[in-house]
Amino acid sequence: MTTSAGGIRRDEILREIGIGVRWRLRAAAPDAADPVPQAAANSAVAAAPAVSRARPGLPPGPGWDELKAQVASCTACGLHAKRNKTVFGVGDEQADWLFVGEGPGADEDAQGEPFVGQAGKLLDNMLAAIGLRRGENVYIANIVKCRPPGNRNPAPEEAQACSPYLQRQIELIRPKLIVALGKVAAVNLLGREASIAALRGQVHEYRGIPLVVTYHPAYLLRTLNDKAKAWQDLCFAVDTLRGLQAAAQTGAG
Ligand code: URA
Ligand code: SF4
Repeated sequence: MTTSAGGIRRDEILREIGIGVRWRLRAAAPDAADPVPQAAANSAVAAAPAVSRARPGLPPGPGWDELKAQVASCTACGLHAKRNKTVFGVGDEQADWLFVGEGPGADEDAQGEPFVGQAGKLLDNMLAAIGLRRGENVYIANIVKCRPPGNRNPAPEEAQACSPYLQRQIELIRPKLIVALGKVAAVNLLGREASIAALRGQVHEYRGIPLVVTYHPAYLLRTLNDKAKAWQDLCFAVDTLRGLQAAAQTGAG
């Protein structure tokens, strides 16, 4: 990092998250302050290797079209009553990367697509900072598919009612790494209460799939000093995935 967490200015961090991607990824690894780089030694495997998508282990259940139709007409929790559009999720249905947010806000509810408002712009910059683009090897979804009124957190029973849809999306995508954006996503995917501060910097698991945690972009828009930590988390995510791919290539994992 060229900036420390203290006194970071919004435009500095936006610049940092928005540009200079490849240079920064290399430069970030040796930074002693980052809890990151154990896998960086393997980083010759920078590009995602092609992966067989044969699906012997796919549990029975709906395919994409059926799942989308189910969500579009879902009334399984109270959030259906005030929604305009359901927000199913978007992206590469065979992505290595899955980013999971909380639930639609006003913009998403109007457009039917996740992360299209202000937080979405920051998420796009965060993706760009690690060389990713919405829709290319990336899928974006939420814990709940309908907007909680007033942008409140989804209630546990709402998240619970909606969880089979995300679970099936994950079965169909079979991502290599899940990034939980914020506490609601992390707590619901991990099934236990904990703070982001306590969960970040470690590789967790959702049904056998590695999962890392970072701050929600909407939170980062309000709490500028934590953007530096989010950047560390993204580097950690990249290194985690590289480490997994390197292990898979050498047959060690
Ligand atoms: N915040 C979220 O958690 N998800 C969205 O889709 C938009 C904002
Ligand atoms: Fe159905 Fe999920 Fe919408 Fe609730 S939030 S109505 S469970 S799609």
